[in-house]
Amino acid sequence: MIEIKKGMNESEIDDYVNYVLEHMSLEEKIAQMSGNGLFMKVIEDKGFGKRAYDAAGSKKFNIPPFKFTDGPRGVIIPGSTCFPVSMARAASWDIDLEQRVGDVIGKEVRAHGGNLFGGVCINLLRHPAWGRAQETYGEDPFLLSEFGVALTRGVQKHNVMATAKHFAANSIENARFKVNVKMDERTLREVYLPHFKRCIEEGCATIMSAYNKIRGKYCGHNNYLLRDILKGDWNFKGFVHSDWMYGVKDTVGGVAGGLDVEMPRAKYFKVKKIKNALEAGKITEAMIDDAAGRVMRTILNYVTKEDPQNYENELIGCKEHYKVALETAEKGMVLLKNENEILPLNKNKISKLVVFGKYAKVKNTGDHGSSNVAVKKVITPLMGIKRYLGDSIEVVYDDGKDQKSVKNTAKEADVAIIVVGLNYKDEGEYIKEFRTGGDRDTLSLHDKDIELINTVSAENKNSIVVLIGGSAITMEEWKDQIPSILMAWYSGVEGGNALAKILFGDINPGGKLPFTIPKDPKHLPYFDKNADEIEYGYYHGYTLFDKNGYEPAFPFGFGLSYVTFSYSDLQVDVKNDKVIGTVDVKNTGKIAGDEVVQLYIGFEQSQIDRPLKLLKGFKRIPLKQNETKNVKIEVSRKNLAWYNPESKSWEIEKITYTLYMGGSSKNDELLSIKFEL
Ligand code: BGC
Repeated sequence: MIEIKKGMNESEIDDYVNYVLEHMSLEEKIAQMSGNGLFMKVIEDKGFGKRAYDAAGSKKFNIPPFKFTDGPRGVIIPGSTCFPVSMARAASWDIDLEQRVGDVIGKEVRAHGGNLFGGVCINLLRHPAWGRAQETYGEDPFLLSEFGVALTRGVQKHNVMATAKHFAANSIENARFKVNVKMDERTLREVYLPHFKRCIEEGCATIMSAYNKIRGKYCGHNNYLLRDILKGDWNFKGFVHSDWMYGVKDTVGGVAGGLDVEMPRAKYFKVKKIKNALEAGKITEAMIDDAAGRVMRTILNYVTKEDPQNYENELIGCKEHYKVALETAEKGMVLLKNENEILPLNKNKISKLVVFGKYAKVKNTGDHGSSNVAVKKVITPLMGIKRYLGDSIEVVYDDGKDQKSVKNTAKEADVAIIVVGLNYKDEGEYIKEFRTGGDRDTLSLHDKDIELINTVSAENKNSIVVLIGGSAITMEEWKDQIPSILMAWYSGVEGGNALAKILFGDINPGGKLPFTIPKDPKHLPYFDKNADEIEYGYYHGYTLFDKNGYEPAFPFGFGLSYVTFSYSDLQVDVKNDKVIGTVDVKNTGKIAGDEVVQLYIGFEQSQIDRPLKLLKGFKRIPLKQNETKNVKIEVSRKNLAWYNPESKSWEIEKITYTLYMGGSSKNDELLSIKFEL
């Protein structure tokens, strides 16, 4: 037997796995294809997610198990660093930062004894009512790709296997166990799968199949998705594990469909059931060898790599990691409105400030499902503001429940900050038994919150609304009477500190929306949280708004700053396999600020049905007061291709394209230039 040691190369690992497969019994191979139980551990631990759960592995052959823990808000095991939710991180448009988040997560997974992180959630936000919107990075496949890749890189640097999930088209929560998602081939390939493909190209070790069906087949049984596309077209070498509650429905469906591991325990992948299916000729031994081989090879590829460092316990939730959480919260908040330059607040001109709303005072870090990072202490908005101000200004808190008191407090204060929005009951993973999460029935705020906003703003013209949530919130009922609106998300352990720094101008907000906020929800695609079946169309988000000429309340990619930026001198260059856009971006304000420069490609002249434009590049750029930078963004030619279902291949049209660059997806604010391919 070959010795397992650090530094083994891939061909040595292949040889070893082949040797093992030759010497393993059928039972031992099948044992690679499921989790090692969960129930007893949850009872022992008095709760879920308190440790990494193991699966597969073989003591006899020196193959360690994989040890699963969840995310993406951080590692869910208690004590870990709780980051802002993925959607808040996407709003930073800072992929280097996301890689650093991944780096922290990777270290903490290892320090907890895990080696697999099930938290690269890259499902596309088709409709903002989706309950788990907060776990992903928005509505655009390119943005999802860039963030998924960044998190994967950061995590895997520490020899932790990353999991991209939920494969695929998982974007309705309440109906997740049953819904059949229909879509045509172009929609599948161009809209719902590209981000998974990018993560696989980046070397993402594992995939988690989704609960829902696509074209009539459960994703965990879906041989077209798992065998033809993932393992065939994309040449994926890792393994696929199922989602946890009802991800596998029967033995033959799962094994023949291309699912390698049933998690978290064997129900349908029990030795006896798989043997029966083999004997009945419904699956083959080659399928078992392939699954077991993938699992063992992937595990060995990670556990035999030299570690870049040691992973002591002290790393978990350490100061350095909290700093990254703070930076993430600061960079992700999105300033949506700032009339009369109410913000930033000048503390020398204020003597009394009032903070309204229950969410100003409670721990509200997001969903209470599988992404919940158990954390004892969180800096709430009120704590953050009080800490920031010390005794310099009188800070009053009012929970907003008593209208009379609200009126009086609002009247007497120089500034009113209203913290409203959502919590884990409104949105999140749907766990019926605990009455938590699910999809939203409405995109607007609760009536009580709207009433609070109305009452406060009638009494105090310096009212600022701070929104908490993981997705789009419509604001038409009240947005005109509020001068300043800040989207603060579920912003993690350091959220309140970040908020105070933004409100008082220590941090100039630079976040931008990773989705479109509609004026009227009717402008969004059809959504039914209880659907048995639904058709996903080619258009959603900004591509749908562009196509139909609808004006959103706030467009995709939009966000204000305490300064303004001007764009000029857009150029395009086509070189070999690249299209290169360059533009001068100037900070025309009085302080430093970050701008997220976005590049879109337009397909107006296409011979086929294509969006008006698609995001194909972006960069977050720091600019000092008055500074101009020439910003260059490259798009690889293959990113302009469309999927031709007839030829079953990606094709690049020979037409005139438009390259747009600017600070949001809003068409009349983008500079544009034509180029040919
Ligand atoms: C969720 C997954 C999660 C898994 C394990 C499932 O219910 O859908 O996202 O990774 O549980 O916690």
